[in-house]
Amino acid sequence: MTQPIKILSFAGSSRIESFNKKLVKVASVGAKNAGAEVNFIDLLDYPMPLFNEDLEAQEGLPESVLKFKALLRNHQGFLIGCPEYNGSITPLLKNAIDWATRLEPGEQGLSSFNGKVAALLAASPGGLGGIRGLVHVRAILEGIGVIVIPNQKGIPNAYEAFDEQGQLKDEKQMQAVQAIAQKLVQITSRLNA
Ligand code: FNR
Repeated sequence: MTQPIKILSFAGSSRIESFNKKLVKVASVGAKNAGAEVNFIDLLDYPMPLFNEDLEAQEGLPESVLKFKALLRNHQGFLIGCPEYNGSITPLLKNAIDWATRLEPGEQGLSSFNGKVAALLAASPGGLGGIRGLVHVRAILEGIGVIVIPNQKGIPNAYEAFDEQGQLKDEKQMQAVQAIAQKLVQITSRLNA
Protein backbone atom coordinates (compact mmCIF):
# COMPACT_ATOMS: atom_id res chain seq x y z
CA MET A 1 0.00 0.00 0.00
CA THR A 2 1.30 3.47 -0.86
CA GLN A 3 1.88 5.97 1.93
CA PRO A 4 -0.92 8.53 2.40
CA ILE A 5 -0.20 12.11 1.36
CA LYS A 6 0.76 14.15 4.41
CA ILE A 7 -0.86 17.54 4.90
CA LEU A 8 0.37 20.00 7.52
CA SER A 9 -2.35 22.38 8.64
CA PHE A 10 -1.72 25.56 10.55
CA ALA A 11 -2.92 29.14 10.84
CA GLY A 12 -1.22 32.51 10.85
CA SER A 13 -2.65 33.30 14.27
CA SER A 14 -1.57 32.20 17.72
CA ARG A 15 -4.77 33.51 19.30
CA ILE A 16 -6.40 30.85 21.50
CA GLU A 17 -9.83 31.35 19.93
CA SER A 18 -8.45 31.98 16.42
CA PHE A 19 -11.12 31.63 13.74
CA ASN A 20 -8.44 30.62 11.27
CA LYS A 21 -7.31 27.72 13.45
CA LYS A 22 -10.93 26.60 13.67
CA LEU A 23 -11.30 26.95 9.92
CA VAL A 24 -8.36 24.72 9.01
CA LYS A 25 -9.56 22.13 11.50
CA VAL A 26 -13.00 22.12 9.85
CA ALA A 27 -11.43 21.93 6.39
CA SER A 28 -9.09 19.10 7.44
CA VAL A 29 -12.00 16.69 7.42
CA GLY A 30 -12.11 17.05 3.62
CA ALA A 31 -8.44 16.15 3.37
CA LYS A 32 -8.84 13.16 5.68
CA ASN A 33 -11.85 11.93 3.70
CA ALA A 34 -9.68 12.17 0.59
CA GLY A 35 -7.22 9.75 2.20
CA ALA A 36 -4.59 12.14 3.53
CA GLU A 37 -2.87 12.11 6.90
CA VAL A 38 -3.48 15.58 8.34
CA ASN A 39 -1.39 17.01 11.15
CA PHE A 40 -2.43 20.28 12.76
CA ILE A 41 0.13 22.46 14.47
CA ASP A 42 -0.39 25.64 16.45
CA LEU A 43 2.29 28.28 15.80
CA LEU A 44 1.87 29.20 19.48
CA ASP A 45 3.89 26.04 20.17
CA TYR A 46 6.73 27.24 17.89
CA PRO A 47 7.61 30.68 19.26
CA MET A 48 10.06 32.42 16.94
CA PRO A 49 11.80 35.73 17.58
CA LEU A 50 11.24 38.49 15.06
CA PHE A 51 13.67 37.65 12.27
CA ASN A 52 16.92 39.58 12.40
CA GLU A 53 20.00 38.67 10.37
CA ASP A 54 22.36 39.61 13.21
CA LEU A 55 20.54 37.26 15.57
CA GLU A 56 20.72 34.52 12.95
CA ALA A 57 24.46 35.11 12.45
CA GLN A 58 25.14 35.02 16.19
CA GLU A 59 22.85 32.19 17.27
CA GLY A 60 21.82 30.30 14.13
CA LEU A 61 18.29 29.05 13.66
CA PRO A 62 16.23 28.74 16.86
CA GLU A 63 15.05 25.28 17.89
CA SER A 64 11.43 26.27 17.10
CA VAL A 65 12.44 27.16 13.53
CA LEU A 66 14.32 23.89 13.04
CA LYS A 67 11.26 21.98 14.24
CA PHE A 68 8.91 23.99 12.01
CA LYS A 69 11.19 23.50 9.00
CA ALA A 70 11.36 19.76 9.62
CA LEU A 71 7.57 19.61 9.76
CA LEU A 72 7.23 21.51 6.49
CA ARG A 73 9.80 19.21 4.87
CA ASN A 74 8.03 16.07 6.07
CA HIS A 75 4.66 17.01 4.58
CA GLN A 76 3.82 17.27 0.90
CA GLY A 77 0.96 19.74 1.29
CA PHE A 78 0.01 22.66 3.49
CA LEU A 79 -3.50 23.77 4.49
CA ILE A 80 -3.11 27.29 5.79
CA GLY A 81 -5.62 29.52 7.57
CA CYS A 82 -4.57 33.09 6.86
CA PRO A 83 -5.94 35.91 8.99
CA GLU A 84 -5.92 39.27 7.25
CA TYR A 85 -4.22 42.20 8.96
CA ASN A 86 -4.62 45.53 7.18
CA GLY A 87 -5.34 43.80 3.91
CA SER A 88 -2.34 41.52 4.09
CA ILE A 89 -0.49 38.63 5.76
CA THR A 90 -0.09 38.56 9.55
CA PRO A 91 3.38 39.20 10.98
CA LEU A 92 3.27 35.81 12.70
CA LEU A 93 2.87 33.94 9.42
CA LYS A 94 5.36 36.10 7.52
CA ASN A 95 7.94 35.72 10.27
CA ALA A 96 7.52 31.94 10.35
CA ILE A 97 7.86 31.76 6.55
CA ASP A 98 10.90 34.05 6.57
CA TRP A 99 12.66 31.96 9.22
CA ALA A 100 11.81 28.74 7.37
CA THR A 101 13.47 30.04 4.19
CA ARG A 102 16.81 30.36 6.00
CA LEU A 103 19.16 27.52 5.22
CA GLU A 104 20.49 25.04 7.74
CA PRO A 105 24.09 23.87 7.37
CA GLY A 106 24.26 21.55 4.36
CA GLU A 107 20.72 22.32 3.21
CA GLN A 108 20.33 22.63 -0.55
CA GLY A 109 17.69 25.09 -1.75
CA LEU A 110 14.43 25.86 -0.04
CA SER A 111 13.75 22.31 1.02
CA SER A 112 10.83 23.24 3.26
CA PHE A 113 8.93 24.88 0.41
CA ASN A 114 10.17 23.80 -2.99
CA GLY A 115 7.60 21.63 -4.80
CA LYS A 116 5.13 21.69 -1.91
CA VAL A 117 1.45 22.31 -2.59
CA ALA A 118 -0.71 24.68 -0.52
CA ALA A 119 -4.34 25.65 -0.17
CA LEU A 120 -5.28 28.94 1.46
CA LEU A 121 -8.32 29.74 3.57
CA ALA A 122 -9.26 32.80 5.59
CA ALA A 123 -11.81 33.80 8.18
CA SER A 124 -12.53 37.30 9.39
CA PRO A 125 -15.15 39.18 11.38
CA GLY A 126 -15.34 41.51 8.36
CA GLY A 127 -17.55 41.22 5.32
CA LEU A 128 -14.86 40.15 2.85
CA GLY A 129 -13.71 37.15 4.86
CA GLY A 130 -10.03 38.03 4.70
CA ILE A 131 -9.57 37.32 1.00
CA ARG A 132 -7.50 40.47 0.38
CA GLY A 133 -4.72 39.00 2.48
CA LEU A 134 -4.70 35.76 0.50
CA VAL A 135 -3.35 37.58 -2.55
CA HIS A 136 -0.21 38.41 -0.61
CA VAL A 137 0.20 35.00 1.03
CA ARG A 138 -0.17 33.39 -2.39
CA ALA A 139 2.47 35.66 -3.93
CA ILE A 140 4.94 35.03 -1.09
CA LEU A 141 4.55 31.25 -1.22
CA GLU A 142 4.72 31.08 -5.01
CA GLY A 143 7.89 33.12 -4.87
CA ILE A 144 9.56 30.42 -2.77
CA GLY A 145 8.52 27.48 -4.91
CA VAL A 146 5.16 26.47 -3.44
CA ILE A 147 2.37 25.53 -5.84
CA VAL A 148 -0.69 27.30 -4.42
CA ILE A 149 -3.90 25.81 -5.77
CA PRO A 150 -6.37 28.28 -7.29
CA ASN A 151 -9.24 27.18 -5.03
CA GLN A 152 -9.50 29.34 -1.92
CA LYS A 153 -12.25 30.65 0.36
CA GLY A 154 -12.80 33.42 2.85
CA ILE A 155 -15.40 33.09 5.62
CA PRO A 156 -16.91 36.50 6.49
CA ASN A 157 -18.69 37.47 9.73
CA ALA A 158 -16.61 34.95 11.64
CA TYR A 159 -18.15 35.69 15.06
CA GLU A 160 -21.46 34.40 13.74
CA ALA A 161 -20.08 31.74 11.39
CA PHE A 162 -18.76 29.21 13.94
CA ASP A 163 -20.70 27.36 16.63
CA GLU A 164 -19.39 26.63 20.14
CA GLN A 165 -17.70 23.43 18.97
CA GLY A 166 -15.74 25.37 16.34
CA GLN A 167 -17.80 24.00 13.46
CA LEU A 168 -19.11 26.15 10.64
CA LYS A 169 -22.84 26.61 11.10
CA ASP A 170 -23.51 26.93 7.37
CA GLU A 171 -23.45 23.53 5.69
CA LYS A 172 -22.58 25.02 2.30
CA GLN A 173 -19.58 26.87 3.72
CA MET A 174 -18.43 23.71 5.46
CA GLN A 175 -18.68 21.70 2.26
CA ALA A 176 -16.87 24.43 0.32
CA VAL A 177 -13.85 24.52 2.63
CA GLN A 178 -13.72 20.73 2.84
CA ALA A 179 -13.85 20.53 -0.96
CA ILE A 180 -10.80 22.81 -1.10
CA ALA A 181 -8.91 20.52 1.26
CA GLN A 182 -9.96 17.55 -0.86
CA LYS A 183 -8.70 19.31 -3.98
CA LEU A 184 -5.41 19.99 -2.22
CA VAL A 185 -5.00 16.26 -1.57
CA GLN A 186 -5.93 15.32 -5.15
CA ILE A 187 -3.44 17.73 -6.70
CA THR A 188 -0.72 16.91 -4.18
CA SER A 189 -1.23 13.19 -4.83
CA ARG A 190 -0.89 13.63 -8.57
CA LEU A 191 2.24 15.72 -8.22
CA ASN A 192 3.79 13.13 -5.90
CA ALA A 193 2.73 10.05 -7.92
C1 FNR B 1 -7.33 43.00 11.82
N1 FNR B 1 -8.49 42.43 11.30
C2 FNR B 1 -8.78 42.58 9.94
N2 FNR B 1 -9.80 41.89 9.34
C3 FNR B 1 -10.03 42.01 8.02
O1 FNR B 1 -10.94 41.37 7.48
N3 FNR B 1 -9.27 42.83 7.24
C4 FNR B 1 -8.23 43.54 7.75
O2 FNR B 1 -7.56 44.23 7.02
C5 FNR B 1 -7.97 43.42 9.15
N4 FNR B 1 -6.95 44.13 9.73
C6 FNR B 1 -6.56 43.85 11.02
C7 FNR B 1 -5.38 44.41 11.53
C8 FNR B 1 -4.97 44.09 12.81
C9 FNR B 1 -3.68 44.66 13.31
C10 FNR B 1 -5.73 43.21 13.60
C11 FNR B 1 -5.27 42.82 14.99
C12 FNR B 1 -6.90 42.68 13.12
C13 FNR B 1 -9.38 41.62 12.13
C14 FNR B 1 -8.98 40.16 12.08
O3 FNR B 1 -9.55 39.57 10.92
C15 FNR B 1 -9.48 39.46 13.33
O4 FNR B 1 -8.77 39.93 14.46
C16 FNR B 1 -9.40 37.95 13.22
O5 FNR B 1 -10.09 37.39 14.32
C17 FNR B 1 -7.95 37.48 13.18
O6 FNR B 1 -7.89 36.11 12.90
P1 FNR B 1 -7.88 34.98 14.05
O7 FNR B 1 -6.86 35.38 15.08
O8 FNR B 1 -9.27 34.93 14.60
O9 FNR B 1 -7.52 33.73 13.31
